[in-house]
Amino acid sequence: MSGEWALRKFVAPEFLFGVGAIDLAGQYARNLGAKKVLLVTDSGVGKSGWVARVTASLDKSALPYVIFEDVSENPKVAEVRSGARLYEAAGCNVIVAVGGGSPMDCAKAIGIVVSNGRDIEDFEGVDRVEFPIPPLVCIPTTAGSSADVSQFAIIADTRRLTKMAIVSKAVVPDVALIDPQTLTTLSPYQIACTGMDALTHAIEAYVSTAHSPITDLHALEAVRLVEANLPGAVDQPFSLDFQGAMMLASLNAGLAFSNAILGAVHAMAHSLGGYLDLPHGECNAILLTGVIAFNYSSCPERYDRIAETMGISLQGCDAAARIGLLVNKISELRENIGISPTIGRLGVKRSDIPRLAEFAMLDACMATNPKMMRRQDIEEIYEEIL
Ligand SMILES: [Fe+2]
Repeated sequence: MSGEWALRKFVAPEFLFGVGAIDLAGQYARNLGAKKVLLVTDSGVGKSGWVARVTASLDKSALPYVIFEDVSENPKVAEVRSGARLYEAAGCNVIVAVGGGSPMDCAKAIGIVVSNGRDIEDFEGVDRVEFPIPPLVCIPTTAGSSADVSQFAIIADTRRLTKMAIVSKAVVPDVALIDPQTLTTLSPYQIACTGMDALTHAIEAYVSTAHSPITDLHALEAVRLVEANLPGAVDQPFSLDFQGAMMLASLNAGLAFSNAILGAVHAMAHSLGGYLDLPHGECNAILLTGVIAFNYSSCPERYDRIAETMGISLQGCDAAARIGLLVNKISELRENIGISPTIGRLGVKRSDIPRLAEFAMLDACMATNPKMMRRQDIEEIYEEIL
C-alpha cells in the first residue's frame, strides 16, 4: 500500500479567524458553561492591552474571573502548580488563555493538573492524559506556537533542565479565537522568532513520517505564506496585511504539525531551550538548516517541493545543489529578519553538547523525524552552529 493512504486522523478545534475574534471571549466562555474563569496570560501581554480587551469581553458577559500571569517565557512546572492552586482556590470551571505559546501551554498544563490530580511531570510523552481538561478558550497573540489549535503543551522541567513535550488530544482547546490585530503590538524580533517557529512547524510536518495529504496541504500553504510575508511583517509590525498573512500561516502550520507531529529541529530546540531558558523560535531558526541538510536524503522529493514552494527553481540541479539552494534560502531569510545563526553567543559551551544531544534523543518529536538520528549525528549538528 502506498504511504499516501496510511490511516491518519486529523484533530482541530473550532476556531474563529479574523479581526474582532478577541472580543468573543466572554460569549464563548459562557457557551462553554463558565461560572468563573481562570484567565492565564503573562505580564508582557498585559502591558500590550490585549488582556484588557479580554476582561472587557468577560465583563460584558457578566463572567467573574481571576487572572494568573506568573508565566515565564518557557513555562515551568512550579508555575503550572501555582496556576492550578489558584484555579481551585478561586472555584474556576473554565480556562481562557491569552498570549503566545507560553501562557497557552501553561493553561493546558494547569487544565491537566486540575482534572487529573497529579503533577504535570506524569504526563510527558504521547497520549498520557487520562481525564479531559476543563473547557479551554485560547486567544493567540503571536503567529508561531499555534498552541491554540494544537495537541501539544511544552513545559520546562527545571529539575532536569529540559523541556517536556506533552502530546494529547486532551489539550486541544475547545475554541481558538484568532485575531490578527493582536500581532501588531509585537516587537520585530518577536515576529521574526515566532515566524521562524511557524516555518519550522510547516517544514517538519511536511517531512514527518506521520504526514498525510491533509496535513501536507496546510504545511505547504504555511511555507508559502511565511516566505512571502515574514520579512514584511518584521519590517512593518503595524501592518495588518502582513500580520494577518502571518497569523494565517501560523494557523496552517499548526493544523499541519498538530496532526503530523514534528521532528529533530523541535527535539533539539526543546533540549537547548530547556537547558538555557532560551526563546523557542530562535532555537528553531538556528537549528533548522542543519537538520534539513542531514534529513534531505531521506525524502528529497519532499524537500524539493518545499524549496519550490519558497520560489526556488531547481531545474537542472543535482541533489547537492538542491540541498544548498534550500539551505541558503532559509539562511538568507533568517539573516534578513535579524536572527544570528549560532548558539555560542547564547551561552552554549562545547562541553554542553553531549547532554543536549542526550535529551534531544529522548524528546517525543524525534520519533517522527524522517531520518534516524544517532547521538553522534545530533552532536555534530549542534557543533556546526556553535
Ligand atoms: Fe515550535
